[in-house]
Amino acid sequence: MKKKKNQAKLSVSLLGKTNGKREEPPLLEIKDLSKDYSDKPVLKDISFTLNDNEILGVIGPSGAGKSTLLRCISRLEDSTKGNMFFEGGEHGANSDIGIVFQDLQLWPHRTVLQNIIDTLIHVKRYKKEKAIDIGKGLLRQFDLQDKENEYPKDLSGGEKQRVAIARALATNPKLLLLDEITSSLDPELIHELLYYIRSLSKQGKSMVVVSHHMGFIRQLADRVIFLENGAIIEENNAEELFRNPKNERTKKFIEKNLVGML
Ligand SMILES: Nc1ncnc2c1ncn2[C@@H]1O[C@H](COP(=O)(O)OP(=O)(O)O)[C@@H](O)[C@H]1O
Ligand SMILES: [Mg+2]
Repeated sequence: MKKKKNQAKLSVSLLGKTNGKREEPPLLEIKDLSKDYSDKPVLKDISFTLNDNEILGVIGPSGAGKSTLLRCISRLEDSTKGNMFFEGGEHGANSDIGIVFQDLQLWPHRTVLQNIIDTLIHVKRYKKEKAIDIGKGLLRQFDLQDKENEYPKDLSGGEKQRVAIARALATNPKLLLLDEITSSLDPELIHELLYYIRSLSKQGKSMVVVSHHMGFIRQLADRVIFLENGAIIEENNAEELFRNPKNERTKKFIEKNLVGML
């Protein structure tokens, strides 16, 4: 990613454009995205951009459409209307996007290492040795190197979350989507997870993170969107949105969820 950025800078400077404007398209651009489920509107004209190396937090009440939004971004779900662009081009194959769901969906009869590398070998057709190399590297990154031969049932909740994130990162996606990954964890483990996700951010990973733990989002996200009834009610940088929400509904939601502040 760094290399690409430098190349872009070089070509721009050769053109003599030194006005300090962004030279690259955003990583993800969503324009007027709508989604209906059998005529019921669930997402209504959602628009936002996500830049390289940025973390976007999404908060909002249950049923607001947060999971549907992530499913549309990952192309697991087709949108009804609107456009999505990935790195400035049409948003097609989903190989550049990893997603972790609330219920993790780890395979119970596969070991930790197998959970991480199975897709690499059987779907992406990586050579087994290369997949194992990648898998072991990820296990080290998430301090799970001693767990590679264990099964999901033998892991703690926090460890399972880390395996699920490691699995989503196996193909080195540019964008990682995290849907309520804190929901089954107690505050100490949420804090621990924050540490690992921050380290991904330091490596330049872009993320869209949905959580009902306001403290988690506040500490992690650069920008935050408040979603209600399928529409963006407010968007701002994280500190500003939590400290000084402009919309009355955002204010009420944050006040009601103060318990989630770490
Ligand atoms: N597959 C589906 N079919 C029909 N309705 C759905 C489906 N998935 C979600 N919905 C509805 O869409 C709305 C938004 O759901 P969801 O995106 O899961 O919200 P959130 O993640 O914010 O709680 C809800 O009213 C939910 O019932
Ligand atoms: Mg949800």
